[in-house]
Amino acid sequence: MISVTSLPFPVMLIDETQTVAAISPALAGVLGSHVVGRHYINALRQPITLEAIETSLRSGQPLQTRWLGRDGARDTTWAVHIVPEGRRVILTFEDRTAAEEVGQLRRDFVANVSHELRTPLTALQGFIETLRGAARNDATARERFLGIMERETLRMTQLVDDLLSLSRVEEGERMRPVAAVDLGALVAATLGDLEPVIAASGVVVTLTDASNGTQVRADANQIRQVIGNLIENAIKYGGSAGVLNINLDSATYHRGLRSEGLALHVQDHGPGIAQHHIPRLTERFYRVDTHRSRALGGTGLGLAIVKHIVNRHRGRLVIDSTLGQGTTCTVILPTI
Ligand SMILES: Nc1ncnc2c1ncn2[C@@H]1O[C@H](COP(=O)(O)OP(=O)(O)OP(=O)(O)O)[C@@H](O)[C@H]1O
Ligand SMILES: [Mg+2]
Repeated sequence: MISVTSLPFPVMLIDETQTVAAISPALAGVLGSHVVGRHYINALRQPITLEAIETSLRSGQPLQTRWLGRDGARDTTWAVHIVPEGRRVILTFEDRTAAEEVGQLRRDFVANVSHELRTPLTALQGFIETLRGAARNDATARERFLGIMERETLRMTQLVDDLLSLSRVEEGERMRPVAAVDLGALVAATLGDLEPVIAASGVVVTLTDASNGTQVRADANQIRQVIGNLIENAIKYGGSAGVLNINLDSATYHRGLRSEGLALHVQDHGPGIAQHHIPRLTERFYRVDTHRSRALGGTGLGLAIVKHIVNRHRGRLVIDSTLGQGTTCTVILPTI
């Protein structure tokens, strides 16, 4: 007979006295080897799992159930296959954590998108009603409401554009860009495109370029999007200090890339971001101050898009911030 302890996947054998007779090393890693010799109720504890084992024992039929574990800070989900053999039972555990997490991400994403769309839609509905009723003959009110309706429509368009952009970037993430791009020239060109935005903000932008025409493998359009997003953020959330510095270093070895790279820094001197927010900024829809971001027309997708683009380029995104002093976002791209 094969011994349970030699099996390469998580297995438990429960004997006639309902005691855990043996577990495989893979399951010992999950439950701890101390459960051997204990009643299975003490080893597994969760009512749903225990009930299924009892039912299976009573009926003599195999059953499948769930068991929820914990691995450090992470919740784990297991499918448990119960196979009774007389008055003994063999349980095999199958790790379903990754599939559960993907499902959870998808549910969160759909909930977020729905919520982001619902707010402007509710506003539009309200204004349409008002324009049909109370404000029907009030030209001033009508103009004002149409202005708000236009803004809300723009916000929805922006959200849909960002969502499409994100899904396009994700789709192409496995394909490395092939074009040779002079990063300094691209930064200068992007700044040119942003001239109207910069002028309207009144923020002074300085550019120091030490890259000397060094080329990177890049998708120029996507890198424009990255630079644009970082500069827009710096203006929107850090522009209060009036100055924004953009620095492009000379090419040098970067440990994070394990190769030579070019680093682009977008530095503002605004209020900064508290440390605990920083790791979450690249999550979809994550904002430090949701109200402020929305008021400024933000969708909370900008840095998520940036992160995916930088990943596609096998580069690094580093966000460094000190409260009261400002934020520096750095993108490092491998040179050719
Ligand atoms: N330079 C900065 N200084 C302070 N906070 C910032 C800075 N850059 C980003 N943030 C914070 O990070 C959040 C996420 O930024 P992100 O670019 O992903 O979204 P957004 O700017 O709100 O929307 P979008 O970029 O889609 O217009 C912002 O809402 C803001 O709270
Ligand atoms: Mg942004």
